[in-house]
Amino acid sequence: MKTNISDSNWFELNFVPGLTAVAGASPIQIPGLPSDDIQLRFTGRTSRQNLEQAFEFYTFVLSKIPAPNAVVDFGGGWGRILRFFLREVDPKKLYLVDCLTDAIEAARATNPPFNIIQTLPGQMCPLPDNSIDLVYAFSVFSHLSESFSRENLKDFSRMLKPGGVVAFTTRGQQHINYLRQIMVGPDADKSNHVLQAVQTLPNLDLIEKKIKAGEYQFFPSSGGGELSSSFYGETWIGEKWIKNNYKKLGFSGYEMFPEKGTIDQVTFLLHK
Ligand SMILES: C[S@@+](CC[C@H](N)C(=O)[O-])C[C@H]1O[C@@H](n2cnc3c(N)ncnc32)[C@H](O)[C@@H]1O
Repeated sequence: MKTNISDSNWFELNFVPGLTAVAGASPIQIPGLPSDDIQLRFTGRTSRQNLEQAFEFYTFVLSKIPAPNAVVDFGGGWGRILRFFLREVDPKKLYLVDCLTDAIEAARATNPPFNIIQTLPGQMCPLPDNSIDLVYAFSVFSHLSESFSRENLKDFSRMLKPGGVVAFTTRGQQHINYLRQIMVGPDADKSNHVLQAVQTLPNLDLIEKKIKAGEYQFFPSSGGGELSSSFYGETWIGEKWIKNNYKKLGFSGYEMFPEKGTIDQVTFLLHK
């Protein structure tokens, strides 16, 4: 879809729910925004800061695949990223997929024109083979068990058209550095929930070593609702794991992008 709205206008328009914007020939009604409590639950961020990160990831992905016709946001939460694709893509070809009832309800409450699909955890996406140009997942593969990641990535390959792309983020070195800092720093806040969670992790040096050796690092902890610790927790996927697995998962190549700007996780692109 051709658009005549600049990046900066498009970002600002997203703070005016209900407004009708015109991109090319099609009017877009700007979806609503959830309460701060809901926003915090999904990304630990709210308002401008939250949409800035979503916008940076959206523009990064679009720079890699500029004209997608059909897009899946896997683990899309309340849709903070997918809403931006309304500028480029027909809403009938935009799919938000999530297994969490709270996410589905929060996404529906924003009244977006795109498709919202609730899956059961571990259930594959109910979309046809070779039908999608882009699947992305922000801060989802930073939580999934190895078997869930494998099954979901294989399913993405099935859904993608030849030449299609997956873009997903996972924990990287920056998060290890951050955890080290909050654990040993003089300001270590013992009530910090991140710190409490990290105390249940094995030694960070060992995690780092295993990532470099190509081992998938998953530490289960429930995320509430349907996000059971049988598949959900804290996850690091290193380049070596991707290198050893991308072909088996149905892809022809991969690229890795370190954390940058507000994108505080490593991004992998997998090419079908
Ligand atoms: C940290 S939140 C990120 C939400 C969204 N990607 C964003 O950046 O705003 C992780 C999301 O992944 C979803 N999720 C986790 N495991 C999933 C699974 N197995 N299938 C579908 N969605 C999943 C969660 O319900 C949650 O909405």
